[in-house]
This record gives sequence, structure tokens and C-alpha cells, in this order.
Amino acid sequence: MLIAQISDAHVGVPGTLFYNRFDTAGALRRAVEELNLLDPRPDVVLFTGDLGDKGTPEEYVFIRELLAALEIPLFVIPGNHDNRAAMLAAFGDVPYLDGADEFFHYAVDDHPVRLVGLDTVNPSEFGAGEMCGARLDWLDRTLGAQPDRPTVIFMHHPPFDTGIVHMDRIKCANGKAFAEIVARHPQVERVLCGHVHRPVQIRLGGTIAQIAPSIAHQVPLDLRPDGPPAFVFEPAAFMLHHWQADRGIVSHMHYIGDFGSPISFSTGEPVA
Ligand SMILES: [Fe+2]
Repeated sequence: MLIAQISDAHVGVPGTLFYNRFDTAGALRRAVEELNLLDPRPDVVLFTGDLGDKGTPEEYVFIRELLAALEIPLFVIPGNHDNRAAMLAAFGDVPYLDGADEFFHYAVDDHPVRLVGLDTVNPSEFGAGEMCGARLDWLDRTLGAQPDRPTVIFMHHPPFDTGIVHMDRIKCANGKAFAEIVARHPQVERVLCGHVHRPVQIRLGGTIAQIAPSIAHQVPLDLRPDGPPAFVFEPAAFMLHHWQADRGIVSHMHYIGDFGSPISFSTGEPVA
């Protein structure tokens, strides 16, 4: 099974640029085009939040238009720049949300790897994330229902510190309790996050937790305690998580862009 993960598109309404500088809608278009061209093609695409930038209903109408070009089944969860109600209104017709409660979370059971999407949005503090008691209980129950199936959890806010202090201030709260639950369910192969706009990995709860880069703009690597909040135009990328039953998951990062044809090690000429 091949699982693609895209994150943090921050698409605004048509005709607008992110900070008057960057065409995030164009970045999502390019990501969709590259996903459709992949060979082998991913079985699913996980979108780990911040689909929109302001979270308005108009943004989600536009985002669904852009995502209509995607030829691969898509599973979305909200980020801190999304508005849960507006996003639900736009995506509420998708079957995987059947049975969702007040939170935008769900499990997908019809693939070799079970997919558990979490809603980490803390609506009472903009930017911040949390796994409150109700959501932790739901996660524990959901993982406990199918203990023998390899499982990927995907969520927006990472439940751990990265060393990028301005992002750590708005991480997913209750990370320790989250990690304790994950540790009780060793079928969890990965915890896949977004939010930080750059690739990061850590051991957490007996498994591997990862942050995907953004398909649009990145956050600079700045480990100074007083590093200012900022973004940078390092290359956009998405993740490909490749699962095999006898091996588990290997994760690859795929840069988005035209880098020319690969050059053959044998002939020194471009590979057809
Ligand atoms: Fe983001």
C-alpha cells in the first residue's frame, strides 16, 4: 500500500496571494498534478490540515474545485487555519465522515493499513492544538477495536516539541497522554503530522512520529530560543509512506517541481 501525505496548503480565495507573495492555490494544483502522475500511483492521499488559510466557506468551495482534479481517494482532517464547521459543510458529503461526532475524526478500514484521522484543533486558542479527554478516549477506543491491523494515525498538530520554539508553543497539548495511548497499541506504525511546514521525525510512544513539509511554503529551521515566526520558500514537498506486510512502512519525501529527467548511471544520458 502506498500512502501519500500532503499538508499545509493554506489556499485563500481565488485571486489572492499568501502574504501578497505566493500563489498557494497554484502550489496545490502542482501537488495534485504530481500525485496523479506518480507510478505506482498512491492508494490514498492524506491531507494533514491547513487546507485553507482563513477558513472561510469560500475557500473550501475553491479547494474542492482544485481537489476535484485529484484521481486518488482523499482523506482530510482540519488544521488550525481551518474552520471545522466551514470545512465540514464543504466536505460533509464524504462517506468516511459518517458517524463522526462533534470532532472531525474517523477511521478508514477498507485498506491493508488502517487509517485513523484525528482532529487536534483547539477552537478556544487560535493556532493551538489539543487532544482533550474526549478525543483521547475516542482514540483509545478506536485503536482498541482493531488491535491486529497495522495502523497509521494522521493529525495536524504534532504532539511533541521540535526545537522550533515558536511552533512548539502551538503544538498539540496533552502529548504525554497521547503517547501513552499509542504505546498501549503497538499496531500503530506511524503518527503522521503537519503544522510545522518542514520534515521532522521522533520516536514517540514506541512508534515513529513524523511531520511532513508543506506543499506550499516552509518554516525555516531555526533552533534559537527566540527565533521569530517566519516562512521561507524552500522546496515544496509531500511524503510517500510505502507499506509492505513483511517490512512495515518506509517513508520517502518527494520534492514538487521540474528537476529534469534523471540521468542514467550507465549511459550518462537522460533516462526515457
Ligand atoms: Fe500550516
